Amino acid sequence: MAATGDTTGAKTTSEGWSSRSAFILAAIGAAVGLGNIWRFPTLAGESGGGAFVIFYVGCVFLLGLPLVLSEIIVGRVGQTDAVGSIKRVAAKSGVAPGWSIFGAIGACAAFLILSFYSVVAGWVLYYVGVMGVDFAEALAAGDPFRGALAGESREMIQGRMAGLFASPSLMLGMHLVFMGATFFIVARGVHGGIEKAATWLMPGFFALLVGITIYGAFAGEMGQALAFLFTPDWSKLTPPVMNAALGQALFSLSLGVAALITYGSYIKEGSGLGPTAAMIATADTCVALLAGLMIFPIVFAVGLDPAAGPTLVFQSLPFAFQTMPGGALIGLLFFVLILVAAITSSISLLEVPTAWGIGERRWSRVRSASIFGGGAFLIGIACLLGYNVWSDVRPLGFWPIFAETDILDTVDGFTGKIMLPVVALLTAIFIGWKADRKLVGATAGLSPAMLGVWRFLVAWLCPIAVALILLFGLFPGLLGA
Ligand code: PFF
Repeated sequence: MAATGDTTGAKTTSEGWSSRSAFILAAIGAAVGLGNIWRFPTLAGESGGGAFVIFYVGCVFLLGLPLVLSEIIVGRVGQTDAVGSIKRVAAKSGVAPGWSIFGAIGACAAFLILSFYSVVAGWVLYYVGVMGVDFAEALAAGDPFRGALAGESREMIQGRMAGLFASPSLMLGMHLVFMGATFFIVARGVHGGIEKAATWLMPGFFALLVGITIYGAFAGEMGQALAFLFTPDWSKLTPPVMNAALGQALFSLSLGVAALITYGSYIKEGSGLGPTAAMIATADTCVALLAGLMIFPIVFAVGLDPAAGPTLVFQSLPFAFQTMPGGALIGLLFFVLILVAAITSSISLLEVPTAWGIGERRWSRVRSASIFGGGAFLIGIACLLGYNVWSDVRPLGFWPIFAETDILDTVDGFTGKIMLPVVALLTAIFIGWKADRKLVGATAGLSPAMLGVWRFLVAWLCPIAVALILLFGLFPGLLGA
């Protein structure tokens, strides 16, 4: 492409997936992560369950899925990093290269998300350690099927999280190990690193998820969990809750950070991307719902508060595992499951800016990954210090919606509630109104009827709905609330 009068200056990537299924696994690996197993149940619990969940699923299929396809198409056509890919689609469509701004904002968002993602994944790593030691003790005691953390009081178990938060060095160590592992995989490249990690880890992930959910169905309060997750109380669907649901849908599908543009650029052949996009969105949503069905039966079985917030998974569940037969083993598997999900996502987060450095700056892969992995590591340190020495810091405290938010939650909230929707909005306008219809349509490979539906969703529903949700979410006062 570069040889045929390409003026974008970006370097066409020579890297690629070895097959379509490798791409699908890697993209599902990117989509399925802490967002599904930690953020989704936390938000569903805090937002009152059913109405949030139903609105969320609507956002995924009516707004998210059309954008998943849009991003993959841009990457497939562009064959380079996100910024360069958008420029190429723009050049082929006769529109200004300035549209690539949403690739740049997306890459910044990926970089910022990586910083706190690695901190939270570090907490998971810590719990893998705690549960691993506990299971080893159970084995040594000749009782491998005992409950977790035998003999510890509720205060001791829940105090672990407080202990972790109070120790900058412990959190820093975990953050370092996780970021290091992410860097190690990304540095090995698309084929040898990212694809290998996804094809090895994702099947194990699904087996564990289904296994633990079935276990929860027998051991926990499945009826209560189903009622909580699927019975809507529409009065709870306020504009901030809608904004949170949209942000979560985008976050969970890895949209608005140019990740799917980047992964799409490694597809070398073929079109027909519509069914592929549908598989990614469906798998991601099934995992989020399954995670809810895995976590809430346990939460209700032991009388915990579903609205406990970000500590729900970490603080409450180890206690639940204590009271369950086989809890020591299940608890260990549970945290390994989250860790696997997190690493296949964090590699996609680092890959976005890394690909930008390779494509636009012509850096080597290792150099680019070190720069962005190192930078995100440093910002992550600020996030984790927000739990102890900098616990009074409110980075955007002047802004009412962030007035009470600590450093990590500010980075999370600012990216999720603002940057991702803005990028989603620009993506929809670009694909729906600016990009060459023939070029885009041919790559989508949909039947004429489906193509029509997709075009309508991208050109009309996505921009209008995302803009409204963004507006009312950020300024709830506009509705007189
Ligand atoms: N989709 C991931 C999750 O749900 O945990 C988070 C994420 C990964 C967002 C990769 C963006 C991204 F590029």
